[in-house]
Amino acid sequence: MTELRIGLGERSYPVYVEAGLLSRAAGLIRPRVRSERAFIITDTNVAPLYAKAFERHLREAGFSCRSFVVPAGEASKSFVRAGGLLEEMLAAGCDRKTFLVALGGGVVGDLAGFCASVLLRGVDYVQVPTTLLAQTDSSVGGKTAVDSKAGKNLIGTFYQPKAVLIDTDTLKTLPPRQMRAGYAEVAKYGLIADADFWEWLERNGEKVLAADEEACRFAVERSCRIKAQIVAEDEREETGRRALLNLGHTFGHALEAQSGMDGSVLHGEGVAVGCVLAARYAALKGVCDAALPERTEAHFKRIGGLVPYSWTADELIPWMYKDKKALNGRINLVLPIKIGEAAVFENADIETVRRVWSEGRS
Ligand code: NAD
Ligand code: GLY
Repeated sequence: MTELRIGLGERSYPVYVEAGLLSRAAGLIRPRVRSERAFIITDTNVAPLYAKAFERHLREAGFSCRSFVVPAGEASKSFVRAGGLLEEMLAAGCDRKTFLVALGGGVVGDLAGFCASVLLRGVDYVQVPTTLLAQTDSSVGGKTAVDSKAGKNLIGTFYQPKAVLIDTDTLKTLPPRQMRAGYAEVAKYGLIADADFWEWLERNGEKVLAADEEACRFAVERSCRIKAQIVAEDEREETGRRALLNLGHTFGHALEAQSGMDGSVLHGEGVAVGCVLAARYAALKGVCDAALPERTEAHFKRIGGLVPYSWTADELIPWMYKDKKALNGRINLVLPIKIGEAAVFENADIETVRRVWSEGRS
């Protein structure tokens, strides 16, 4: 088992990575929480695959547990859903030492984390991510959120989990489209912070997508290490360092929001297109060399990660102003400078943004 540490002073916590970890989760959770009372939040796809066995394992180890199952999909990341869940947990007798377990993908993780942060002014929670996206990104770093009509993730908190338990075996049941979507966040780490990792992905991306055990372990660990470092440097996204994790997201969130967040554009699918458009924008503005967009696009295309879109720039650009990085009516973009390095650029040039949206349309 690999153990990484998210170094945040008294809010520090471990990230454990191992194939088969779910069957020995109890021993890792116990020292990190204040009671043996677990409320498991999961979704309708993950529950039949993993919740029963996970509950049994916790009970055998002396925990009491109860599961709360939300509908699978982004629509569950809503304020209304969070409110319903909070009422259900209070009615079930949640007290301040009850801890929540987010068993599922980024939707469940963000929703459960948000609930944990406001329930009784904050209860402990543990992340048990089961998608590639959640294992490499959303379960680590303490960003919690629900979506708003005004855009993605606009209601949320920074609230760190007590531990993250990653069982890479769960990736074996993840549908290929979801693997490709999660892969976008993995590739993002290579682009912003680690040229060697990007090159490794160029050679081994297909193995990750095929849920090859060794390749997944390597990709998950490397991603979590990079994220751990960035989160430790800028937990609350105040210095611009953590904002780098948003490469591709200003474009990607616009696609997701315009699609109605109905699952037709997955988060990671938006991020993949967004990484390519950010690279094209960067090359047009002379921020990166001309070959970078082509190389980025070629890789995403090869792994089948680029979804087409037909919305116009006029439809998509208004969403970009609602991005959390936008300030004083200006769009700020994370742009690649070279493979392995990125930076935040303020006050994006709207005509160039319009051009890359239009040229990317199919
Ligand atoms: P998701 O949670 O919707 O999971 C994708 C699908 O896979 C769902 O249908 C789910 O039921 C199913 N699933 C999950 N695990 C499975 C498994 N092991 N086998 C079979 N099916 C499984 O989506 P996601 O891609 O995991 O997460 C996307 C969300 O994460 C978005 O809302 C995004 O905004 C958020 N996010 C948050 C952060 C953060 O830092 N908090 C970072 C990146 C993304
Ligand atoms: N996924 C962006 C962040 O955690 O900051």
